[in-house]
Amino acid sequence: MDVVILPGSKAIASLAADAVEALLRRKPDAVLGLATGSSPVPVYDELVLRHEQRGLDFSRARAFALDEYVGLPAGHPESYREVIRRVFTGRVNIGPANVHGPDGTAADIPAACQAYEDAIRAAGGVDLQLLGIGTDGHVGFNEPGSSLASRTRITTLVEQTRRDNARFFRSVAEVPSHALTQGLGTILDARHVILLATGAQKAQAVRDLVEGPVAAICAASVLQLHPHATILLDEAAASSLRLADYYRHSYDNKPPWQGL
Ligand code: GLP
Repeated sequence: MDVVILPGSKAIASLAADAVEALLRRKPDAVLGLATGSSPVPVYDELVLRHEQRGLDFSRARAFALDEYVGLPAGHPESYREVIRRVFTGRVNIGPANVHGPDGTAADIPAACQAYEDAIRAAGGVDLQLLGIGTDGHVGFNEPGSSLASRTRITTLVEQTRRDNARFFRSVAEVPSHALTQGLGTILDARHVILLATGAQKAQAVRDLVEGPVAAICAASVLQLHPHATILLDEAAASSLRLADYYRHSYDNKPPWQGL
């Protein structure tokens, strides 16, 4: 696990966008794993800029969203399918048919979850997965207690998560109680995972993720088992890390040929 501590979200966005750009130049039909939440938005903005100014080409790329609320009607502005389209995929030249998300409106939820797993596999797996982290350490909507081997499934949101996400709705009562999410086992299958966290409200979750035990109480800690996980943090999100100086030293001395 590489922990990179940066001055702020602009530097984080630039580094994450570099990784996406390098991937697309190497593999134009790459499979991107997309997260919602506010953390990845600066990365999406940076990618849109590179698309507009430098012609960064998404025409052959494929994308899979991490998660989706259950029960929001198709086209609801806060459904993650809509959010992803609004903040990113609708602003670059990726074909709408190449952007996938779990179907939170499905009548047969287990079948929809299996279909999503099958679609990711049929696409050849996710090359680069962007992730945020919840204040309780969730990734996607894998709340505390999620099996570390879980696959795409329905989960029940923790009340704190609903309160955290209420800012996107008119009230907490409108935030759905359930979601479909790629499982922790699904996320571990991505070839490269980049998790982004900013702000002091994420410091404890980041500490549990990086320096705590691998344990379902902090779902994100499963990334300690991933062979290529990169954790991009601002100073505030890194403020509870015991080995921050070592992570800085290690990144400053990283052999350039390794890339991110
Ligand atoms: C939601 C999403 C997560 C995201 C988290 C943090 O719960 N399901 O994928 O990581 O919010 O969001 P933010 O980046 O806005 O703090």
